Amino acid sequence: MRWVFISHDDPDHHGNLEAVLDACVNATLVASWFLCERLVAEGFTVPPSRWRWLGDGDTLDAGDRTLALVRPPLYDSPTTRGLFDPITGVYWASDCYATPVERGTGLVSELEPDMWDAGFAAFNLWNSPWVSITDPEAFGAQCHRVEQLRPTAIASAHGPTIPASHVQQAFDMLRRLPMTVPPPQPDQATLDLIVAAMAGIATG
Ligand SMILES: [Fe+2]
Ligand SMILES: [Fe+2]
Repeated sequence: MRWVFISHDDPDHHGNLEAVLDACVNATLVASWFLCERLVAEGFTVPPSRWRWLGDGDTLDAGDRTLALVRPPLYDSPTTRGLFDPITGVYWASDCYATPVERGTGLVSELEPDMWDAGFAAFNLWNSPWVSITDPEAFGAQCHRVEQLRPTAIASAHGPTIPASHVQQAFDMLRRLPMTVPPPQPDQATLDLIVAAMAGIATG
């Protein structure tokens, strides 16, 4: 293992980072100044000699390929960078283009189209609520940065893979989000139901 790339500093994206780097003694952490600053603030102890600072727009020569760091159009951390592999055509989009699913699902093509559309809008609008205050044209320019890579597949950290057959639809759905009203999030009434159901389970 030569490289460990971290997309951003949310716990679900770096929770086991020190254990991985302890196990992979020849690996270099590909992060950025801001990402490392935040990790160290949380107690990260891997020394700077094992870091490589690369930001949005930079590239990484990984030996047999040059990976491009491209920030996805939507993100929930200022440290976010996605990763594009020009050999496979895969774009690793961190949280962006994600969709919640009811059960383990490999590809978005296995979902009901309406479920994908609704889940895609909910996840991306909830995770990046600021998209509602963006100018659609300015947001579209950010979408174009990823679109012009012509990825053959998009992987998010929270949902099925988007295969080549569905990439264009994902691009179209993302571009609509500045004009899309976010669906309501679960509220206190929902929490009351959860607590009541758990109490019912506990008492048998
Ligand atoms: Fe995140
Ligand atoms: Fe995430």
